[in-house]
Amino acid sequence: MPPLLWTSITIAIIGTSRWVVHLFHDAVSIAILVCCGRDTLQQRTPGLSEPRAIGKGQCGEIWTRVGSVVVTKTNNPGKEDQLWNDSCMHRLIEETMRTTPTSLQRDINIPKFEMLASLTHKFWNDVPEHIRPNIKPKYGLVSSRIRPVTEALRRDIVKAFAPSSANKRSALTELENQDCLVRLYLGRREKRFDRQAFRLRNFDLMVNEMEELQLDTSKFAAIMGKTLSILHWSAHVDADDVEFVLGRSPTLKMRASATDCNDSNKDDVCQDFTSDERHNVIWLLDFDQCKSLDDNDAGIKQLMQSFYFNDPYYPRPEANHPNDVALWATFRDNYLEASGLLTAIMMPARFIEAVETEARRRKAGGSIFGRSDNNAGYRK
Ligand SMILES: Nc1ncnc2c1ncn2[C@@H]1O[C@H](COP(=O)(O)OP(=O)(O)OP(=O)(O)O)[C@@H](O)[C@H]1O
Ligand SMILES: [Mg+2]
Repeated sequence: MPPLLWTSITIAIIGTSRWVVHLFHDAVSIAILVCCGRDTLQQRTPGLSEPRAIGKGQCGEIWTRVGSVVVTKTNNPGKEDQLWNDSCMHRLIEETMRTTPTSLQRDINIPKFEMLASLTHKFWNDVPEHIRPNIKPKYGLVSSRIRPVTEALRRDIVKAFAPSSANKRSALTELENQDCLVRLYLGRREKRFDRQAFRLRNFDLMVNEMEELQLDTSKFAAIMGKTLSILHWSAHVDADDVEFVLGRSPTLKMRASATDCNDSNKDDVCQDFTSDERHNVIWLLDFDQCKSLDDNDAGIKQLMQSFYFNDPYYPRPEANHPNDVALWATFRDNYLEASGLLTAIMMPARFIEAVETEARRRKAGGSIFGRSDNNAGYRK
């Protein structure tokens, strides 16, 4: 598409809020310039274009530009404190992952936290006077961008699941569909209903569909089990409402911790961090609902409710399909094994027991959430 036409379309879509976003991205640029120097920024962000929204939820809106390596999450009205919590939890979880043994966290990826631009950030001093009266500054959580999944996977998804009425070609070429992250719903096995609007952005891929695409569901379950254990017993957070998605492999994986280096050698530790950008990997994101955890009965209940309230990423106990039974066992074993390395307390086993008990109650027709199906409880 010609650059001029492209710019016009973007401006039309984003409208007046474009200024706000533009300013935030300039704030990001300034921050990165300060941190990294001008040359580094220009090398990392060739050909920046107009900002555009690539995601939206109840907490905020996610903005980026073509060619940018960062995204900015701006708060929705009244969600300032939630975004602040997001930034605190993001920092905590990232730092925790970095100091967790590589053997437990090598397959999970987290966007790199860059900064939280506040209302009083010195950046706002540079906003021209004639624009100021028309804009309302927001907070902006800046982190690295998860790049969309490979084109090969997008094609496979469209080929297999786009309803016959949909224009399969436009499903691949529409800009919105190029921002494709794939939500991994290991806890849901269903027939997909034909939908009027077939969208690849945040595509919710169910476990039966993963099998159809010959994706390694067992590996996904193991990674989720280990990751949840790290969140619970190293970061001490309940993992409420976090997302597990497939996105492109990062250019640079998280660096090895000092302990990892001490326990390794120059040929060994680096190989763990070689990444192949042609592949898709699991990313963990969205920490605004995470809460810290107490090591007591209330803590177990909090963890169990977060497990069921979330979208159905995790495999479920008491499933009917034999593949799902095996996936739950893989998830549970990896969770317990990782927890055994992270803590000596009995809470991990009690959490698993609480999840299994709740699954049995749901199967028998009762639920703490008032629904009997085994996927009940998720918010969205
Ligand atoms: N670092 C990132 N890189 C690429 N896309 C992202 C990134 N962070 C978020 N997104 C996209 O934006 C969407 C919304 O982001 P996020 O989940 O953080 O917002 P939210 O307001 O907390 O949403 P929710 O109501 O689902 O909790 C995500 O589902 C994802 O598609
Ligand atoms: Mg959220």
